[in-house]
Amino acid sequence: MDAKTTLIAGIIIALLVGAGIGYAVSLSQINQLKSKVASLESKLGQGGAGGCIQTTGLVEKIKKRGYIILGTSADWPPFEYIDKQGHYVGIDIEIAKRIAQKLGVKLVVKDMKFAALIQSLQDGKIDMILADMTPTPEREKVVDFSIPYYFSKGNAVVVLKSSNIQSIQDLYGKKVGVQLGTIQEDWAKDNLKGKAEIVSYDKVYPDMVMVLKRGDVAAIIVSDMVADVLLKKDPSLKIAFYAGGSGVGGAVAVPQCAEDLKYVVNSVIYDMLQNGEMKKVFQQEIDKWLSSQG
Ligand code: ARG
Repeated sequence: MDAKTTLIAGIIIALLVGAGIGYAVSLSQINQLKSKVASLESKLGQGGAGGCIQTTGLVEKIKKRGYIILGTSADWPPFEYIDKQGHYVGIDIEIAKRIAQKLGVKLVVKDMKFAALIQSLQDGKIDMILADMTPTPEREKVVDFSIPYYFSKGNAVVVLKSSNIQSIQDLYGKKVGVQLGTIQEDWAKDNLKGKAEIVSYDKVYPDMVMVLKRGDVAAIIVSDMVADVLLKKDPSLKIAFYAGGSGVGGAVAVPQCAEDLKYVVNSVIYDMLQNGEMKKVFQQEIDKWLSSQG
């Protein structure tokens, strides 16, 4: 529990206890308390779920509307990509389908560049993000995250098989491709700034893979699992080395204070992890990607 949650919980308990012992709390006193909380909150200034006085009522809105809008960046197999028939497919799409099903609504997919996802969620243009998004302190300030649904070995530096790049130092003086707004871009900025030329792209597959194969960049940085499946399908690529970023893989992002939606999302993920369905979905979607053409 963070400072704000403790504070708000404390005030609520105080009000309940007050009511319980017949301590009359007038409406104006409650309003005074609320504005006190608001001003304390802005002083704490951190944002995050802990600051929520009341939930956004998003679940009710989604149910009334009859569909939930998923924001994703469909360039990241096996998590999300566009198949030959032009459908959005992958692990995240499967999880999103189950969330929609649990809510009893349809799933609408909005594909955009990865770097635009958080702002779209904040603007209410999408209801949730599933884009193998890794929770970070920066992101936690503006959106809320579900429990994670897998763990990652970290970032993989992918090069052509013919390349002799083996270490960070080997990247110095070279062009390195990363996706705009990702933790891979953060890693590159932290470790290669001023030493290598970092080139940021909006889409990983096929764009970044193409520029690598064309020789426009010497390496691209993606997550371990994405590197694995790209390599299996394209024998001209290899992993040069792993570079930081290990730990939590992906989680679902929901708007701040959308505690009701977060609860539904968490229960879907929890069930899938518990009953082995998550593992099945991962395997099935990896196989689907590997057996697909193109
Ligand atoms: N896990 C990384 C991040 O959160 C990269 C995610 C990229 N996802 C995508 N759909 N392109 O920054």
